[in-house]
Amino acid sequence: MLYEAFLAKIASYGIIPVVTLNDVRSVDGLAGALISGGLPVAEVTLRVSEALETIRIMSKRGDLLVGAGTVRTLDQARAARDSGASYLVSPGFNEAVVHWAIDQQIPILPGVDSTLGIEMAVAKGLKALKFFPAGTSGGPAKLSALHGPYNDVRFVPTGGIDAGNLDRWLTHPAVIACGGSWMVSMKLLENKKWDEVECLVKEALAIASRHTGLRAEEGAGWTTG
Ligand code: 3PG
Repeated sequence: MLYEAFLAKIASYGIIPVVTLNDVRSVDGLAGALISGGLPVAEVTLRVSEALETIRIMSKRGDLLVGAGTVRTLDQARAARDSGASYLVSPGFNEAVVHWAIDQQIPILPGVDSTLGIEMAVAKGLKALKFFPAGTSGGPAKLSALHGPYNDVRFVPTGGIDAGNLDRWLTHPAVIACGGSWMVSMKLLENKKWDEVECLVKEALAIASRHTGLRAEEGAGWTTG
């Protein structure tokens, strides 16, 4: 998927569910809940041994935008791509991973929480970055401070976001989407609470829909720019 098309896509959803799944037999149940909820997108974290298989099964379905999260090494990036991941998300800025992803034309959202990380990412030509860990890195106030000098950069805050503060984050002019596990927590997944996942996804999308105009405008800019 082209970088700009990826950014436009996540901007249109406004939310990226961050999934850590340790039972591949649950992939279809989870995928069904996300799709029924109206959010056919997932960032599957490489934090459990089943992650690559989850990506493989989920991406093969063809009805979800599946990416890999917690990509910390080049080997992980390659394995995620080979398993079918359409995009990569990293907790920090790893130059080798970012360089490889750009070379392979696989969209990447490296995590940053400071001016240094932003500088490094912008130097690579990236336009949108994960802001991580959003809640404890200064929250929306920190993002506002960063948005001053870096008003051409867009962010995907992740870490500490839930239905209670989602609106506040999505209102921020620098935010194109928020990532989070609150609607797909490990507890919900372990207990196969698919109805609950679907409800939480719908609730999140209802909040995100209040800001769609702004993000769609941004998305259109990326698509044509
Ligand atoms: C991530 O992997 O991006 C975060 O750990 C997700 O953070 P959350 O669990 O606070 O949503």
